[in-house]
Amino acid sequence: MSERYTDFFPEDLQTQLNNSFYFLKQDVYGIDRIFFENAGGSLRLKAAVEAQAKYSAIPDCPERNHNVALDIRNVIAKGTEDISLFLNAKDGAIASALTASKLMFEIISAVASNPNGNIVTTAIEHPSSYDACQFASEQFQHELRVAKADSASGSIPLSNIVDLVDEQTVLVSVILTSNITGAMHDIKTYAKAIKEKNPNTYIIVDGVQGAPHGVIDASDWKIDALTIAPYKMFGNRGIGYAYLSERIASLPHHRLQATNPDNWNVGSPTPAHFASFTAIIDYICHIGSYYNHSSDRRTLIVEGMNRIHHQEQAILHELINGTSDTPGIKDLEGVTIHFEKANGINQDLILALTFENLSCSEVVKEYGKHNILVYARESASHYSKRILDAVGLDAIVRVSPIHCHSKEDIKAFLKVTHQISSHLNINV
Ligand SMILES: Cc1ncc(COP(=O)(O)O)c(C=O)c1O
Repeated sequence: MSERYTDFFPEDLQTQLNNSFYFLKQDVYGIDRIFFENAGGSLRLKAAVEAQAKYSAIPDCPERNHNVALDIRNVIAKGTEDISLFLNAKDGAIASALTASKLMFEIISAVASNPNGNIVTTAIEHPSSYDACQFASEQFQHELRVAKADSASGSIPLSNIVDLVDEQTVLVSVILTSNITGAMHDIKTYAKAIKEKNPNTYIIVDGVQGAPHGVIDASDWKIDALTIAPYKMFGNRGIGYAYLSERIASLPHHRLQATNPDNWNVGSPTPAHFASFTAIIDYICHIGSYYNHSSDRRTLIVEGMNRIHHQEQAILHELINGTSDTPGIKDLEGVTIHFEKANGINQDLILALTFENLSCSEVVKEYGKHNILVYARESASHYSKRILDAVGLDAIVRVSPIHCHSKEDIKAFLKVTHQISSHLNINV
């Protein structure tokens, strides 16, 4: 069980962070807006976008030996090192591809290529890993085993996974944090218990939703692979990264033959993506250095991510419980906070809400009238149906702020939620 945090960033730091993002207060048309849709793609750091633009303008091939080429090569090396530091990847390889989903398919297909075993996944996996497991099961004649969710917490109890693991289990795919329920899994504990049952199985983690909200430690967790997507963590679309253990990195996989056997980057890397990732890590270290004067970059990353997590837990706490002068959602008639069992305990900054007498898409429209962007996850969508079924719901309104949101944003959101729940229509 994690501690509860209620303190927000100090005001001077909050101001600095707010100034670091595009479109935090207004949308692209200059209209005031609260963007609580970060699980669909997070607010962007100005520095990450600018670094992307700067290196996109340079035509030089990094494989040459002139000065510009060498500079660009350094940018790629530094970006790769920053990905390793962020994930605490101490061995193996860092892979990149257009999306985290593409990487997941590549990894799972490579791991599962010896036929006639079983693959264990969970009912709340994003399609990126679930569909990859299903594809590989059909392709390589594995039995697909799906661990059931606990609908009260929106998570997968460890025993539901371990019960499915046996000597024939080729791989276990488990999500770090659900992008629909917000439940966070303690991957270190899960990996240990799974490996106790089958030391040879591979543990593959979808870290896309968890990455912007807390510390990742691939080395300490003793996992075999973990995927992330910069566009969910203050950066840009167009790239996904993965940590691969040595065991996975050396498996047969798609590779240009002139490259090292553990190279999973098929074709030329894009320097701009790496420069942009370094800008994200600089930002996280900036938060870390407000609290910690270490010169070690991993130490600052850990401090920064812990501080982000604390801030987000404080936001979650206020959303649920309210402030001295504004009632929290838990006190509003006609509004249900789902997965309440987990709220504030191993729960990411995602609220899953339903409202009496209003469909989720109507609720989204109501928030929209007050310039608050949230999203309805509904069974009609392939991305949501299996996961909603697994937790016994048909639809939810997903509310997903991030650490740079302020007390004022939360207050405004609570006020509007109160109005919607009482079916009134006033402007905030
Ligand atoms: C939890 C989770 N995993 C994986 C993905 C897939 O990421 P990508 O769009 O980079 O394939 C997403 C995207 O929504 C996600 O939320």
